Amino acid sequence: MAKDLNTAARLSVAPMMDWTDRHCRYLHRLLSRETLLYTEMVTAPALVRGGAVHLLDFNEEEHPVALQLGGSDPAELAQAAKLSEERGYDEVNLNCGCPSDRVQSGTFGAVLMRQPTLVADCVKAMQDAVSVEVTVKCRIGVDDQDPHEVLPAFLEEVSATGCNRFTIHARKAWLQGLSPKENRDIPPLDYDLVHAMKARFPELHLSLNGGVTSLAEAQVHLDRGLDGVMIGRSAYHQPADILCAADPQIYGTGEVTDPVTVVHQMLPYIENHVSAGGKLGQVTRHMLGLFAGKPGARQWRRILSENAHKPGAGPDLVVEALAAVTGAAEAAERQAV
Ligand SMILES: Cc1cc2nc3c(=O)[nH]c(=O)nc-3n(C[C@H](O)[C@H](O)[C@H](O)COP(=O)(O)O)c2cc1C
Repeated sequence: MAKDLNTAARLSVAPMMDWTDRHCRYLHRLLSRETLLYTEMVTAPALVRGGAVHLLDFNEEEHPVALQLGGSDPAELAQAAKLSEERGYDEVNLNCGCPSDRVQSGTFGAVLMRQPTLVADCVKAMQDAVSVEVTVKCRIGVDDQDPHEVLPAFLEEVSATGCNRFTIHARKAWLQGLSPKENRDIPPLDYDLVHAMKARFPELHLSLNGGVTSLAEAQVHLDRGLDGVMIGRSAYHQPADILCAADPQIYGTGEVTDPVTVVHQMLPYIENHVSAGGKLGQVTRHMLGLFAGKPGARQWRRILSENAHKPGAGPDLVVEALAAVTGAAEAAERQAV
């Protein structure tokens, strides 16, 4: 699988807590067959000590799919990685980039940029426990660290374990004084440093993350020599813009997908979810941006967000919202001629 994963990782959708859940990933997979999808972060203590293995649930259709783990105890991460492999994930990724308070208190996430030896121990323990690939998502540094010194040292030490695929969020995390949200916007991006790492470690598979808002921008980084680009917020808020053309453009395979067709393909999934007792809004909240920038986008979003939580709401509501989109598209076409 590793070779295929290296190809899949040319484009990936970032791990995002509360956003990239299984419903979101199911939608993204219908939009792009090839893109590598990441789960929300699951903490090793929750899996190992808390026994919360339901956090590993996913749909078989999601492959290739990587589970992201948070933690800093090698033995516990090894056990969590084993559980993830048994559950069928294609890759296990270690979070060394998340700055949230909750995560800091457990000594994991971005604070691990200060402890490359511990990260290497964690990765080694995970590798020893599983045969799927173990990868790392990191920042370029934290707080007052000099990224030009710490990032190469981090990559060198961690890759000595045999780990050879990294995703680098191209900005520092400031662990004091900034909220997690501010930490995704305020520290400046340094794309050139990530490109310099590829020149310095040509044998590593390096993906750049942070601030990429279109497929064309992703392509620029790939053309400059990086192995992959990971997109987070834009893939979530405008999934069609990022994912519909990804297969032909980034992988040279398949066709551009049509969001209207994808909505139709979501209906049986939604029906199953609702008949099993799930709420419509749990699925449709990830679909609100599907028509962003297109005629009917406002009605689509409004119909779903105002009604999806109501008792008895099901696939019919999605059909109704879609009719508003197709109606608006037809009206726009009539106006254009
Ligand atoms: C709502 C939200 C939740 C996130 N949760 C995680 C997470 O669980 N693990 C992680 O490594 N990064 C997490 N991130 C950071 C993203 O993976 C990504 O690194 C960041 O958003 C920068 O990429 P972007 O500019 O393309 O969004 C999260 C980001 C957002 C917006």
